[in-house]
Amino acid sequence: MLDPNFHITTPRLYLSYLNPSNDAHMSFMVRLVNSPEIVAVVAQTHAKSPPPPQSVSEARLAMASAAERLEKTGSGRYIISLRTPDTDFTDESGDREYLGIVSMQLKRFPDIECPKIPDIGFLLLSEYHGKGYASEACNALMQHFKETRGHERFAGFTHPENVNSQRLFRRLGFEDRGTMDVAGVIWGNSSAARVAVWVKGVSPDTDLGDLGIGPGLGEASNMGSVVNKLVG
Ligand SMILES: CC(C)(COP(=O)(O)OP(=O)(O)OC[C@H]1O[C@@H](n2cnc3c(N)ncnc32)[C@H](O)[C@@H]1OP(=O)(O)O)[C@@H](O)C(=O)NCCC(=O)NCCS
Repeated sequence: MLDPNFHITTPRLYLSYLNPSNDAHMSFMVRLVNSPEIVAVVAQTHAKSPPPPQSVSEARLAMASAAERLEKTGSGRYIISLRTPDTDFTDESGDREYLGIVSMQLKRFPDIECPKIPDIGFLLLSEYHGKGYASEACNALMQHFKETRGHERFAGFTHPENVNSQRLFRRLGFEDRGTMDVAGVIWGNSSAARVAVWVKGVSPDTDLGDLGIGPGLGEASNMGSVVNKLVG
């Protein structure tokens, strides 16, 4: 069972496991993935995405297997909540203000060739954009993976036209490696997706193919829904 008390603390935020057993988490996810800004990001991919969950029970079902992986490996989604100064995480468990999710994915799909370094993802409700919260959450999660699992290299994948995400990668110190087909980033699909690739801590002469960042053994590329990696 996911530890409900696990959390990472930043100056303004808490990150904790996105927990399918927690109704408040699932209710927030339904709101998040049906919000106009996220629907627009999905639409930008021109992909046939499965419809987003419309209820707590649908969200729970969609996220059950991801929770098992999160528990075993730490790889998966973390929910971001506002931190109230001078209050313990456990003291305010009843009534949190959730802003979005941040994810760290490694070997996302057991049967598909996936990138060998963890990749970071993010999704915030629009009312929390432009305040530095996404950067704060991403930096904290990368630091956590560095301290607890020794990761020094990170990747980021997004749709080539997702300007906001790419600005965030740049703010986080990632380098732009251009647009390419990458396998193992689309939910339940062995096809490679054409994505903008950003990396951090990877030397410029490293062949990204050696890190599993490439078309893999999948089928021809498609403009798949990169957002599915966050919601599936
Ligand atoms: C991508 C996304 C998370 C970026 O959010 P963001 O709020 O722009 O990112 P940050 O947290 O880094 O915020 C930086 C902005 O906050 C401002 N800011 C305000 N107060 C700040 C503070 N205390 N500290 C740091 N920055 C602050 C910065 O000046 C910057 O503003 P600017 O963009 O006008 O220069 C957001 O656009 C989003 O959720 N989009 C939809 C989902 C999506 O596309 N996900 C990716 C799918 S692959």
